[in-house]
Amino acid sequence: MSVKTEVISTETPTLFANAVSRAAALLLAGEAVALPTETVYGLAANAFDAAAVARIFEIKGRPINNPLIVHIANLEMARGCAAEWPAAADDLARSFWPGPLTMVLRKGVSIADLVTAGGKTVGLRWPSHPFMQAVIRECGFPLAAPSANLSNRVSPTNAAHVQKALNGRVKLIVDGGQSQVGIESTVLDLSVRPPRILRPGMLHEQSLAAVLGELALGELHDGSVLKSPGQLPKHYAPKGRLMIASWSDDDALKAFCARHGGKPEKTNVIVHTRIPAPEGWARVSVIPHDAEAFGRSIYGELHACDDSGAELIIVEAPPEGAAWRAITDRLRRAAA
Ligand code: TXA
Ligand code: MG
Repeated sequence: MSVKTEVISTETPTLFANAVSRAAALLLAGEAVALPTETVYGLAANAFDAAAVARIFEIKGRPINNPLIVHIANLEMARGCAAEWPAAADDLARSFWPGPLTMVLRKGVSIADLVTAGGKTVGLRWPSHPFMQAVIRECGFPLAAPSANLSNRVSPTNAAHVQKALNGRVKLIVDGGQSQVGIESTVLDLSVRPPRILRPGMLHEQSLAAVLGELALGELHDGSVLKSPGQLPKHYAPKGRLMIASWSDDDALKAFCARHGGKPEKTNVIVHTRIPAPEGWARVSVIPHDAEAFGRSIYGELHACDDSGAELIIVEAPPEGAAWRAITDRLRRAAA
């Protein structure tokens, strides 16, 4: 698989409009293209076209039992993808769409079976990124789009990250700037009672519970079908070994590194409060002690670790609490 990959900008109104036309034309022709969203970049194709959707799986090397999220740009389009539209979906849409929320509902007939991995439900999201919205409106059909990385690797939060993974595999990457949320959407299953969070995101459970009243956390492990393979223990991983740790001072951090067989000069340290002296480490990155800022930056830091060939990545443990839940979840999967 080798095609010429074009990366196009959206910086000015003219470039933006040209990029919308170009992306829509390729999508109409059954191609998969990489597009910006506010969570992470997505690899998009027409959700009504099974052959186009098959290209996504091929390009990413994604197992076909892992369903894709379908992106829509208005409520009518969302309803058209679902077999039923519960009152809770309206309430949630009013509060959180467009935004980083994916609602899992019973699937409508229009959605290709490949999108839902043969399952009876479909994940729907109305993204807030203006470019993604403009492309969906121009196409007039919903876009199935997983994150635009190779399967199991760190999701991309800018066009350069996408290029690293998909250069030669896609015809078009649209550069829509840095993803403002930086962590994949919250996946909420509305096809069960009570509704259940399958994947935590930066839109956290307290906000959802305020609208829903009742809410359950975590996947049901009842031996039935795997509902959200993104919830497999190992996922979203950088190439180096990642460890989550807490330490009292620089000596304790060095001891931790040595104890785990790390070489400091091949170790990147990512911190938010306990900032060590940079000497001896390959790199020390400081992310503000704020969940939103941390979420926006962490994947970029992990990509930088990949680029620099870090063998060990030590991440200072995030605080407890709902606001940090998605970050802790992703770091744990990266460390698994
Ligand atoms: O923020 C996001 O959600 C990004 C952007 C591009 O929108 N997309 C994304 O897609 O993260 P992906 O494919 O990397 O992750 C989708 C997650 C997977 O864990 C998948 O198993 C789950 O959503 N999912 C999709 N459809 C589902 C369904 N019908 N039932 C349960 N889980 C579903
Ligand atoms: Mg993904």
